[in-house]
Amino acid sequence: QPVYLSDYQPPAYQVTHTELTFDLDPAATRVKARLLIERNENVDAQTPLVLNGEQLSLVSLAIDGTPLAEADYQLDEDSLRIMQVPATFSLESEVDIAPGANTALEGLYQSSGMYCTQCEAEGFRRITFYPDRPDVMATFTVTVIGDQNNEPVLLANGNPVDSGTLENGRHFVKWEDPHPKPCYLFALVAGDLHKVEDHFSTMSGRDVTLQIWVEKENLDKTEHAMASLKRSMVWDEQTYGREYDLDLFMIVAVNDFNMGAMENKGLNIFNSAAVLTHPNTATDATFQNVEGIVAHEYFHNWSGNRVTCRDWFQLSLKEGFTVFRDQCFSADTNSAPVKRIQDVSFFRTAQFAEDAGPTAHPVRPDHYIEITNFYTLTIYEKGAEVVRMLCNLVGWENFRQGADAYFERFDGQAVTIEDFVGCMEEASGQTLDQFMRWYAQAGTPEIDAHGEYDYVHSEYRLTLRQRTPATPGQTEKQPLHIPVRMGLVGTKSGQDLTLTMAGEVLGKDAVIHLRDNEQTFVFTDVAEAPVPSLLRDFSAPVKLYFPYSREELAFLLTHDSDGFNRWDAGQRLAMLALDDLIAAHRNGVEKVMDGRVTEAFRTLLTSSVSDKAVLAEMLTLPSEAYIAEQQPIVDVDAIHAAREFVRQSLALALRDEFVATFEANRSEEAYAPTSEQIAQRSLKNIALSYLMSIEDEQAIAFCQAQFAADHNMTDVRYALTLLVHSERDDVSSPALKAFGEKWAHDSLVMDQWFTIQVTRPQPDVLERVEFLMQHPAFSIKNPNKVRALVGAFTQNRVNFHRLDGKGYALLADVVIELNRLNPEIAARLVTPLTRWQRFDEARQALMHAQLERIKKEPLSSNVYEVVEKALA
Ligand code: ARG
Ligand code: ZN
Repeated sequence: QPVYLSDYQPPAYQVTHTELTFDLDPAATRVKARLLIERNENVDAQTPLVLNGEQLSLVSLAIDGTPLAEADYQLDEDSLRIMQVPATFSLESEVDIAPGANTALEGLYQSSGMYCTQCEAEGFRRITFYPDRPDVMATFTVTVIGDQNNEPVLLANGNPVDSGTLENGRHFVKWEDPHPKPCYLFALVAGDLHKVEDHFSTMSGRDVTLQIWVEKENLDKTEHAMASLKRSMVWDEQTYGREYDLDLFMIVAVNDFNMGAMENKGLNIFNSAAVLTHPNTATDATFQNVEGIVAHEYFHNWSGNRVTCRDWFQLSLKEGFTVFRDQCFSADTNSAPVKRIQDVSFFRTAQFAEDAGPTAHPVRPDHYIEITNFYTLTIYEKGAEVVRMLCNLVGWENFRQGADAYFERFDGQAVTIEDFVGCMEEASGQTLDQFMRWYAQAGTPEIDAHGEYDYVHSEYRLTLRQRTPATPGQTEKQPLHIPVRMGLVGTKSGQDLTLTMAGEVLGKDAVIHLRDNEQTFVFTDVAEAPVPSLLRDFSAPVKLYFPYSREELAFLLTHDSDGFNRWDAGQRLAMLALDDLIAAHRNGVEKVMDGRVTEAFRTLLTSSVSDKAVLAEMLTLPSEAYIAEQQPIVDVDAIHAAREFVRQSLALALRDEFVATFEANRSEEAYAPTSEQIAQRSLKNIALSYLMSIEDEQAIAFCQAQFAADHNMTDVRYALTLLVHSERDDVSSPALKAFGEKWAHDSLVMDQWFTIQVTRPQPDVLERVEFLMQHPAFSIKNPNKVRALVGAFTQNRVNFHRLDGKGYALLADVVIELNRLNPEIAARLVTPLTRWQRFDEARQALMHAQLERIKKEPLSSNVYEVVEKALA
């Protein structure tokens, strides 16, 4: 029962104002709603009013105060249909819901005793009968009634306008949100919460109160989120001219949350893992992640809330744009090249894999069964890449002008991707028709490039050929408009050469536009033989093939003026070496390390690269998951063996250099999440990880000392991971035990403790997963725990893909259980099994069998859609 974009119809009825009263109770929360409703123009008076509603027990229903008779309406599993309604009226309903029994974590539910909501995309229909679609926008007045002891704090969107005490130890707070919003942005929180408060003065001089609400024991973990919030507010004013629009902005941390966070108007709700930090409990990566997510949700206030999506097919309109905005914010706040390297490295691993699998879909899908399955890397990350290309195509000035027009023209409206791109066309005067294909076409475009230098005429001819592989339901692909940023690096000078095409001087770094299936670009006055540096800064989300020799890659690694491509040259060089080793492993031939890689690493370690964060990235080998993406059939064991061989070879050959790097970057400074410190720690720790790959006494001593020094969680966790992943039980066990005992009281740290254990390369891991699932700190109902233990295990490639199939069976067991408890998480968790076609026959059969087993269950629409596609 899929929904199609082409079936879109505007709503027949609008809700202009929504009044809600919640009388909180775990088993029976009474929700009273009074909706002011208007029939839209040109809608037939006989048109019934259809409201969404799921898992609601209806108590009463009235129109303008007159109760409806049973014959006046039809109620089924997921909707309420009222046959005849006036043109303008108020609909009063009362329903009971059971937040205490809500394990799906959609709608109103309880988390660690407190009440909270998650309505995007279609959770509001589990709260009350409503036209649950984003193009119905209303102002909201919400009264929350709770117990004075259990729920001293009662929050909803907007501003508090009234409060008081009631009988039986109850009390209430009334909230008003003056900005019309779709119901997916509704939020309510109630519980024993404590706040940290701060203030922000907006660019027009208004004072905004900022609050972060947490459980009492987490009050010391909010500082970084608050600082990040204030930086985000300044950034959006300075970069996009966007000011906050209420007097109060609240963030709440909850322990049970399906995703990272949610941009509910004025009341952002966060997974506690995405907001809480403390130097002793959170790593650098978490600090940076929190900063990015706080910014992301804050930026949604304009890109998402003030201007929202017409329908869920347009999801990337708000998500792609907002991810682009948060990426730029993080780049401006920290190291821009490192941010780009990390984002692209993740993108090329995970989004490319999605594009190559059975659930591949365009940035704007044209149909879906379950929308929560479409909160994907394609919608978010590829959507952001598309917006980035758009920005680069029209130039920042025009992009900003287009964004201004978009926010102004569509303020308070629910719009489409065409509306957004239209503003960019208008601002730039460019036609973006061909560019729009990026939204419609699924799959990763591939570019085959080759070049020739003509000494006689001093010309360089670059030929680019594009193709996009077929994806499910889309066999024919049209050529895309692909911006390729590039330079030609002179092999003699080591410098970017001036690019001249058809008599026009383009500069030393230029964008060429590939629009056809094949194009040849001729550069003239090229005085020396060049090595092309293509797709600089990853100017388009494509796979680019160029037959670089290893010498050319080593040359780019040191000479490319583009930091991103310098890193990429290193990755390509390492990949060539890894390919040889993978082949050697498969053929049972002795493995030989490519000396060029060793020398490149030696140069990196000894020539003082100024940016330590970039250096740490350059010293990081492609991950097993990334290597797997490059192979037609994934050989997990060969990949693991080859990568380990490279790590150990480098560590043996460059031991002194790694020791020197490690020692030079130790520091006693008090922890701060600054770019400088983070860079230094990454570099030190990557050196340590190489040393630990050969596990000699000195490396173990370094690790143990760093663990024992207990300076900050970044260093402790890094050292602990290396110790626990050691072959030696006398090294592994004591550290693991000490850490587990020390942090038994801290749920988020225990998640890290789970992850470290189940990502060990040793073959006993599956049994350990089973054992840890019985651990008192584990709960299958908590998504963070499931991700930390089961999700992390599926990323442990050699163990998850064990040839006895037990890894697959374990995952299927968990998916089957979660299918009943939390379908959204179940559907996400099953992903690794859906990639079965990428593996050898034996594994294919085992994975396929587990998918078949899952399919025999009575499935939620979430899991059904994913499994169905995987087996199709
Ligand atoms: N809009 C949110 C964000 O990107 C995530 C929505 C969560 N949706 C869900 N179905 N859990 O920040
Ligand atoms: Zn978002």
